[in-house]
Amino acid sequence: MTSGARIVAFGEHRPPRVVGNDDLPAALGTDDAWIQSRTGIRSRRIAGPDESVVSMSADAAGKALAGAGIDPADVDLVLLATCSMPTQVPGGAAQVASALGARSAGAFDINAACAGFCYGLSAAADAVRAGTARTVVVVGSEKLSDWMDWTDRRSAILFGDGAGAAVVQAASKPSIGPVVWGSDGTLSSLIDIPAGGKLNLDGPAVFRWATTSLGDIARRACTAAGITPADLDLVVPHQANLRIITALARSLGATNAVVADDIVDTGNTSAASIPLALARMTADGRARPGDRALLLGFGAGMTWAGLVIEVP
Ligand code: UT7
Repeated sequence: MTSGARIVAFGEHRPPRVVGNDDLPAALGTDDAWIQSRTGIRSRRIAGPDESVVSMSADAAGKALAGAGIDPADVDLVLLATCSMPTQVPGGAAQVASALGARSAGAFDINAACAGFCYGLSAAADAVRAGTARTVVVVGSEKLSDWMDWTDRRSAILFGDGAGAAVVQAASKPSIGPVVWGSDGTLSSLIDIPAGGKLNLDGPAVFRWATTSLGDIARRACTAAGITPADLDLVVPHQANLRIITALARSLGATNAVVADDIVDTGNTSAASIPLALARMTADGRARPGDRALLLGFGAGMTWAGLVIEVP
């Protein structure tokens, strides 16, 4: 057993195609002013036919490994958080491992929807601490555009595509978690994709759940990490709606923290939203080495998971 685990690098894949609110199909009957005022979204990235959950994952993870100077052959485990694979079987993680050149890695998918990256990060840290893996790649990747009903303005305006990745290794000082997680299957109908169907979303019900539940989960994640919200340098919630993010930041009292706003030009990318935001904030200097960041995922299931990490 090793004493701790840490993130050593992030990577991202943002599809090149930018779709602004005015570029959405006219059949949706929506407009830029409504979308911006209700969600904060100005544009999102939509993957092209040559970009898949697997290819975007491999690109993001490859960049994270290169950034950390790690040979892909040394990766022991690949965890892919996604809910938008085009196939029920097989999952995508093994294909990501092969595309990376992680020839001896174990690999499995995690479907905890928008909370998936936080579940994956916690599982990666546990695997490293238990000694079952030395180097773990965790990816959140979604091509939700495949699963949209492009005539449903209540959902099609929200989502985007992309992938973000983190590499986790052993550390003398614990700097991932502990995680505070939970679920409520009685709320499973709030967000679903039925067999053969497209994404359904009860947006107002999810909004109410998020604005009444997330504050407590966030505070418990801080307590588990031995800090208070005022000690946070960054708050990186799942990028579901800027109004949810703003309400959470206000109620939490994280007065010294920079709050992630990646949703504005990325949309809601489900499991990819937190690592995409972290990768960007690390690259542009808003997240600095040693910063303490609260990550808070929530989504279909319902599932949720919050944990404090140290920025590499
Ligand atoms: O990642 C996990 C999943 N994330 C979420 O579910 C996000 C949580 N929910 C939300 O972000 C918000 O609930 C939405 C952005 C989805 C919707 O915003 P809202 O403020 O809750 O709007 P609403 O659904 O209550 O609709 C208000 C009005 C309705 O019109 P009436 O009945 O008052 O006349 C809707 O028909 O706005 C109408 N509307 C729209 N109008 C223009 C709903 N969607 C649109 C639209 N454009 N895209």
